[in-house]
Amino acid sequence: MRVILMGPPGSGKGTQATSIADDLGVDAVSSGELFRDHQRRDTELGRLARSYMDQGVYVPDGVTIKMVMEWINDPVHSAGFVLDGFPRTHAQAEALDAEIKSLGGVDRVVFIKVSEDELIRRLTGRLICRNCQTPYHLLFSPPATKGMCDKCEGELYQRDDDKADVVTTRIQIYNQETEPVVDYYRRSSILREVDGEQAVEDVGKAMNAAISG
Ligand code: AP5
Ligand code: ZN
Repeated sequence: MRVILMGPPGSGKGTQATSIADDLGVDAVSSGELFRDHQRRDTELGRLARSYMDQGVYVPDGVTIKMVMEWINDPVHSAGFVLDGFPRTHAQAEALDAEIKSLGGVDRVVFIKVSEDELIRRLTGRLICRNCQTPYHLLFSPPATKGMCDKCEGELYQRDDDKADVVTTRIQIYNQETEPVVDYYRRSSILREVDGEQAVEDVGKAMNAAISG
């Protein structure tokens, strides 16, 4: 099964990706998380990606496509995938289509719809576990103990690109670059849209129904 999760920054892709992948028996991958992993390891790609991500703009297609294709082509991911945050440009969508055409292509694209005001509230209040990357929210889904991950007791932090001014740029870039890619998949019969402004569990149920239906 090959599934793509699309939606603006803060729509809930990361919140839903792992449980959806678990249900399908595949792995989930977030291109943003792959870049943050490179940053933590201080690789050349990590330093390059940081210079774009801190401004809220996209990392160039060439290095992004190469990194995600390496993940997809790793034999441990041969059962399929849930892609979170890739593709975001036409060039990325074309590269993905070409890469997996012989396997039957993408099975389902799930687009999570959330209003801009809600995105800003979510991103500016988000906290992430440094250890397991689980997202929390100061008001909407706070941890049981302040500053500590419920799952692994890791430290919670705010992403540099979740500051208000960078959030505005990320939403603008998404509208310019990625909305047309959503329309590209919408024109095919594989895209399903879900209302992302419900409770987390209800969004998950709607996404599962969209994937199986
Ligand atoms: P990336 O890390 O992918 O960020 P993003 O797409 O901006 O998405 P987010 O992780 O911010 O949001 P999300 O939809 O996962 O929401 P979440 O579940 O956390 O990318 C970062 C950067 O990397 C990009 O800006 C770019 O520079 C670069 N990059 C990445 N991929 C690239 C690519 N393909 N090409 C080029 N550059 C690329 O939820 C958000 C908050 O809301 C959380 O606090 C959560 O608890 C809360 N929440 C979630 N669901 C609900 C709900 N139903 N109700 C209430 N609160 C909720
Ligand atoms: Zn954790």
